[in-house]
Amino acid sequence: MKNVKAIIFDAYGTLFDVNSAAEKCKDKIGDKWESFANYWRTTQLEYTWLRSLMGRHKDFWEVTEDSLEKSMKTFKIDSSMKGELLDLYKVLSTYPEVKEVLNKLKETNYKLAILSNGTPSLLNELVKSNNLENIFDNVFSIEEVGIYKPSSKVYDIPIKKFQIQKGEVVFLSSNTWDVSGGGNYGYNSIWVNRNNNIFDSLDYIPQNQVKNLGELLDLI
Ligand code: LAC
Repeated sequence: MKNVKAIIFDAYGTLFDVNSAAEKCKDKIGDKWESFANYWRTTQLEYTWLRSLMGRHKDFWEVTEDSLEKSMKTFKIDSSMKGELLDLYKVLSTYPEVKEVLNKLKETNYKLAILSNGTPSLLNELVKSNNLENIFDNVFSIEEVGIYKPSSKVYDIPIKKFQIQKGEVVFLSSNTWDVSGGGNYGYNSIWVNRNNNIFDSLDYIPQNQVKNLGELLDLI
Protein backbone atom coordinates (compact mmCIF):
# COMPACT_ATOMS: atom_id res chain seq x y z
CA MET A 1 0.00 0.00 0.00
CA LYS A 2 1.40 3.35 -1.06
CA ASN A 3 1.00 6.87 0.29
CA VAL A 4 -0.51 5.77 3.57
CA LYS A 5 -0.18 8.41 6.27
CA ALA A 6 -2.80 7.36 8.81
CA ILE A 7 -4.31 4.10 10.00
CA ILE A 8 -7.72 4.70 11.48
CA PHE A 9 -9.76 2.14 13.37
CA ASP A 10 -13.43 1.81 14.05
CA ALA A 11 -13.94 1.02 17.75
CA TYR A 12 -17.01 -1.06 18.53
CA GLY A 13 -16.84 -4.48 16.91
CA THR A 14 -13.39 -3.80 15.43
CA LEU A 15 -11.10 -3.18 18.41
CA PHE A 16 -13.58 -3.86 21.21
CA ASP A 17 -15.80 -6.92 21.43
CA VAL A 18 -19.38 -5.63 21.57
CA ASN A 19 -20.68 -9.03 22.69
CA SER A 20 -18.35 -9.23 25.67
CA ALA A 21 -20.75 -7.43 28.05
CA ALA A 22 -23.57 -9.97 27.53
CA GLU A 23 -21.07 -12.83 27.44
CA LYS A 24 -19.83 -11.95 30.91
CA CYS A 25 -23.46 -12.35 32.11
CA LYS A 26 -24.15 -15.59 30.26
CA ASP A 27 -24.67 -17.57 33.46
CA LYS A 28 -27.57 -15.27 34.34
CA ILE A 29 -28.94 -14.75 30.80
CA GLY A 30 -28.61 -18.37 29.70
CA ASP A 31 -28.22 -19.84 26.20
CA LYS A 32 -29.92 -16.89 24.54
CA TRP A 33 -27.07 -14.53 25.56
CA GLU A 34 -25.58 -14.40 22.05
CA SER A 35 -28.85 -13.81 20.20
CA PHE A 36 -29.63 -11.15 22.78
CA ALA A 37 -26.20 -9.51 22.30
CA ASN A 38 -26.63 -9.48 18.51
CA TYR A 39 -30.14 -8.02 18.79
CA TRP A 40 -28.91 -5.31 21.17
CA ARG A 41 -26.10 -4.39 18.77
CA THR A 42 -28.39 -4.34 15.72
CA THR A 43 -30.99 -2.22 17.52
CA GLN A 44 -28.29 0.16 18.77
CA LEU A 45 -27.02 0.69 15.21
CA GLU A 46 -30.54 1.08 13.81
CA TYR A 47 -31.18 3.80 16.38
CA THR A 48 -28.01 5.65 15.28
CA TRP A 49 -29.10 5.59 11.62
CA LEU A 50 -32.72 6.48 12.42
CA ARG A 51 -31.75 9.36 14.71
CA SER A 52 -29.38 10.71 12.05
CA LEU A 53 -32.16 10.58 9.44
CA MET A 54 -34.71 12.14 11.79
CA GLY A 55 -32.28 14.87 12.85
CA ARG A 56 -32.84 13.90 16.50
CA HIS A 57 -29.38 13.24 17.87
CA LYS A 58 -28.81 11.53 21.18
CA ASP A 59 -25.31 10.48 22.18
CA PHE A 60 -24.10 6.90 21.87
CA TRP A 61 -24.46 6.17 25.56
CA GLU A 62 -28.14 7.16 25.52
CA VAL A 63 -28.68 5.16 22.32
CA THR A 64 -26.96 2.16 23.92
CA GLU A 65 -29.25 2.38 26.94
CA ASP A 66 -32.41 2.90 24.83
CA SER A 67 -31.58 -0.08 22.63
CA LEU A 68 -30.75 -2.20 25.70
CA GLU A 69 -34.19 -1.48 27.18
CA LYS A 70 -35.94 -2.69 24.03
CA SER A 71 -33.66 -5.74 23.77
CA MET A 72 -34.21 -6.76 27.41
CA LYS A 73 -37.98 -6.58 26.93
CA THR A 74 -37.77 -8.53 23.67
CA PHE A 75 -35.67 -11.29 25.27
CA LYS A 76 -37.56 -11.19 28.59
CA ILE A 77 -34.45 -10.40 30.61
CA ASP A 78 -35.11 -9.12 34.11
CA SER A 79 -34.80 -5.34 34.25
CA SER A 80 -32.59 -5.64 37.35
CA MET A 81 -29.72 -6.64 35.03
CA LYS A 82 -29.69 -3.35 33.15
CA GLY A 83 -27.14 -1.60 35.39
CA GLU A 84 -24.71 -4.52 35.26
CA LEU A 85 -24.90 -4.80 31.45
CA LEU A 86 -24.35 -1.07 31.02
CA ASP A 87 -21.41 -1.06 33.43
CA LEU A 88 -19.82 -3.92 31.48
CA TYR A 89 -20.38 -2.07 28.18
CA LYS A 90 -18.12 0.69 29.49
CA VAL A 91 -15.21 -1.73 29.86
CA LEU A 92 -15.61 -4.01 26.81
CA SER A 93 -12.63 -6.26 26.16
CA THR A 94 -10.46 -6.01 23.06
CA TYR A 95 -10.35 -8.90 20.59
CA PRO A 96 -7.41 -11.20 21.38
CA GLU A 97 -4.86 -9.92 18.82
CA VAL A 98 -5.59 -6.21 19.15
CA LYS A 99 -3.08 -5.10 21.77
CA GLU A 100 -0.09 -6.84 20.20
CA VAL A 101 -0.88 -5.46 16.73
CA LEU A 102 -1.40 -1.91 17.99
CA ASN A 103 1.88 -2.03 19.88
CA LYS A 104 3.68 -3.12 16.71
CA LEU A 105 2.01 -0.38 14.67
CA LYS A 106 3.08 2.13 17.28
CA GLU A 107 6.69 1.48 16.17
CA THR A 108 5.86 2.73 12.63
CA ASN A 109 5.51 6.32 11.44
CA TYR A 110 1.80 6.11 10.63
CA LYS A 111 -0.60 8.27 12.55
CA LEU A 112 -2.90 5.99 14.54
CA ALA A 113 -6.43 6.98 15.47
CA ILE A 114 -9.87 5.75 16.44
CA LEU A 115 -12.93 7.14 14.63
CA SER A 116 -16.10 6.06 16.37
CA ASN A 117 -19.74 6.67 17.17
CA GLY A 118 -18.82 6.51 20.87
CA THR A 119 -18.74 9.63 23.02
CA PRO A 120 -15.30 11.00 23.96
CA SER A 121 -15.69 9.84 27.56
CA LEU A 122 -16.82 6.31 26.57
CA LEU A 123 -13.92 5.96 24.15
CA ASN A 124 -11.41 7.29 26.66
CA GLU A 125 -12.67 4.82 29.25
CA LEU A 126 -12.39 1.90 26.79
CA VAL A 127 -8.86 2.93 25.84
CA LYS A 128 -7.89 3.32 29.50
CA SER A 129 -9.47 0.11 30.79
CA ASN A 130 -7.63 -1.83 28.06
CA ASN A 131 -4.25 -0.11 28.71
CA LEU A 132 -4.09 1.49 25.25
CA GLU A 133 -3.45 5.07 26.43
CA ASN A 134 -0.10 5.43 24.68
CA ILE A 135 -1.15 4.07 21.29
CA PHE A 136 -3.34 6.61 19.54
CA ASP A 137 -2.45 10.06 18.21
CA ASN A 138 -6.16 10.95 18.31
CA VAL A 139 -9.43 9.43 19.41
CA PHE A 140 -12.13 10.99 17.22
CA SER A 141 -15.79 10.91 18.26
CA ILE A 142 -18.78 11.67 16.04
CA GLU A 143 -19.93 14.01 18.83
CA GLU A 144 -17.70 16.59 17.11
CA VAL A 145 -20.21 16.71 14.22
CA GLY A 146 -23.41 15.53 15.97
CA ILE A 147 -24.36 12.91 13.38
CA TYR A 148 -23.57 9.20 13.19
CA LYS A 149 -21.64 7.12 10.70
CA PRO A 150 -21.89 6.71 7.76
CA SER A 151 -22.33 10.47 7.30
CA SER A 152 -19.43 11.90 5.30
CA LYS A 153 -19.17 14.59 7.99
CA VAL A 154 -17.81 11.89 10.27
CA TYR A 155 -15.17 10.58 7.85
CA ASP A 156 -14.14 14.20 7.27
CA ILE A 157 -13.03 14.66 10.89
CA PRO A 158 -9.57 13.02 10.67
CA ILE A 159 -8.90 14.45 7.21
CA LYS A 160 -9.32 17.98 8.56
CA LYS A 161 -7.41 17.27 11.75
CA PHE A 162 -4.44 15.54 10.12
CA GLN A 163 -4.51 17.74 6.97
CA ILE A 164 -4.15 14.70 4.71
CA GLN A 165 -5.89 13.36 1.60
CA LYS A 166 -8.70 10.81 1.82
CA GLY A 167 -6.66 8.27 -0.12
CA GLU A 168 -3.85 8.53 2.43
CA VAL A 169 -6.06 6.90 5.05
CA VAL A 170 -6.30 3.19 5.67
CA PHE A 171 -9.55 2.64 7.55
CA LEU A 172 -10.35 -0.62 9.27
CA SER A 173 -13.77 -1.73 10.37
CA SER A 174 -15.48 -5.04 10.96
CA ASN A 175 -18.84 -3.38 10.26
CA THR A 176 -19.47 -3.87 6.54
CA TRP A 177 -21.62 -0.73 6.26
CA ASP A 178 -18.83 1.31 7.91
CA VAL A 179 -16.29 -0.09 5.43
CA SER A 180 -18.70 0.94 2.65
CA GLY A 181 -19.24 4.36 4.23
CA GLY A 182 -15.53 5.08 4.55
CA GLY A 183 -14.79 3.61 1.12
CA ASN A 184 -17.48 5.66 -0.63
CA TYR A 185 -16.10 8.71 1.13
CA GLY A 186 -12.65 8.04 -0.36
CA TYR A 187 -10.74 6.10 2.27
CA ASN A 188 -8.83 2.96 1.48
CA SER A 189 -11.16 0.81 3.60
CA ILE A 190 -10.20 -2.64 4.78
CA TRP A 191 -12.82 -5.07 6.01
CA VAL A 192 -12.00 -6.95 9.21
CA ASN A 193 -14.06 -10.02 8.44
CA ARG A 194 -13.79 -11.92 11.71
CA ASN A 195 -16.72 -14.27 11.13
CA ASN A 196 -16.56 -15.12 7.43
CA ASN A 197 -19.55 -12.93 6.60
CA ILE A 198 -20.98 -11.63 3.31
CA PHE A 199 -20.09 -8.11 2.19
CA ASP A 200 -22.62 -5.37 1.31
CA SER A 201 -23.89 -4.16 -2.05
CA LEU A 202 -23.36 -0.48 -1.33
CA ASP A 203 -21.20 0.78 -4.20
CA TYR A 204 -17.85 -0.07 -2.60
CA ILE A 205 -15.83 -3.26 -2.65
CA PRO A 206 -12.77 -3.18 -0.37
CA GLN A 207 -9.53 -4.06 -2.10
CA ASN A 208 -8.44 -5.91 1.00
CA GLN A 209 -10.05 -7.87 3.75
CA VAL A 210 -8.41 -9.45 6.76
CA LYS A 211 -9.61 -12.09 9.20
CA ASN A 212 -8.17 -10.16 12.12
CA LEU A 213 -5.91 -7.16 12.69
CA GLY A 214 -2.80 -9.34 12.70
CA GLU A 215 -3.08 -9.73 8.91
CA LEU A 216 -2.86 -5.95 8.55
CA LEU A 217 0.84 -6.09 9.41
CA ASP A 218 1.46 -8.12 6.22
CA LEU A 219 -0.48 -5.64 4.08
CA ILE A 220 1.19 -2.36 4.99
C1 LAC B 1 -18.27 2.66 15.99
C2 LAC B 1 -19.35 1.70 15.63
C3 LAC B 1 -19.70 1.75 14.21
O1 LAC B 1 -17.41 2.40 16.85
O2 LAC B 1 -18.98 0.41 15.89
O3 LAC B 1 -18.28 3.74 15.39
